[in-house]
Amino acid sequence: MSLPSLREGYRAVVFGASGGLGAALVRQLAADPRCAVVHAGARTPGPPAERTRPFAFDLNDEEGLAEAAGAVAAGGPLDLVMVATGVLHGEGLAPEKTYRSLNADAFARTFAINATGPALIARHMLPVLSRESKSVFAALSARVGSISDNRSGGWHAYRASKAALNQIIRTCAIELAARNRLALCVALHPGTVDTGLSKPFQSGVSADRLFSPYDSGAHLLGVIDRLGPADSGGFFAWDGSPIPY
Ligand SMILES: NC(=O)c1ccc[n+]([C@@H]2O[C@H](COP(=O)([O-])OP(=O)(O)OC[C@H]3O[C@@H](n4cnc5c(N)ncnc54)[C@H](OP(=O)(O)O)[C@@H]3O)[C@@H](O)[C@H]2O)c1
Repeated sequence: MSLPSLREGYRAVVFGASGGLGAALVRQLAADPRCAVVHAGARTPGPPAERTRPFAFDLNDEEGLAEAAGAVAAGGPLDLVMVATGVLHGEGLAPEKTYRSLNADAFARTFAINATGPALIARHMLPVLSRESKSVFAALSARVGSISDNRSGGWHAYRASKAALNQIIRTCAIELAARNRLALCVALHPGTVDTGLSKPFQSGVSADRLFSPYDSGAHLLGVIDRLGPADSGGFFAWDGSPIPY
């Protein structure tokens, strides 16, 4: 995968490099000879590899995140920042089927990772996006975060946290346009992807609609390459089609 719209020797960072999609994105960016370095952030970072510099961060540790972001930014302006973190289920956390099971702890945990976390990453990374050529901040959202597209209900906390993320992206994009005219800030929907996050919910998904992380990552990088500053603030699916908020 190549990203010809970014400058030769572009510098990338992926937050969430241990995840299904994050790992696929890191692998593809590191394989691009035009990429100088990909900083690969995770709670438990992997080993260094060609063009790949692992670093540690935890979205629940605001101070540690600021330090990690500062260390990444110290290497020079970034051309591509991808936020591939997210949570849908976990110990004591499952997407709600009814409003009767809503609880504050699930909302707090889900919002911390899916909305507040990416907002804090934006705080530290948007100011260090390159101003000399096209640069991109892209956060992985989810189509279910679209309010106008919500026809099936359920998954209250996840949906609401992704809707909040989309609003954060939109709001940051407006400010960014005034500060860096070559930069974009977008939300992306990767499709339904075969990762740990979707594993318990794949039974109703036909094989041709379930992407491998590699294929989804390639689609997303292709979309990023085709978007321009006029698209900043938008929400786009894996095939480049805009998703209404
Ligand atoms: N898979 C799909 O079908 C699908 C569909 C629509 C949208 N998405 C979105 O795509 C993104 C990536 O999802 P995925 O499918 O790749 O899921 P995944 O394999 O479960 O990866 C989730 C990532 O988030 C990280 N993370 C969770 N809590 C964290 C914390 N406190 N601090 C730092 N990192 C944390 C995980 O790190 P650890 O390894 O340390 O847990 C992991 O790297 C998510 O935003 C998801 O909502 C996925």
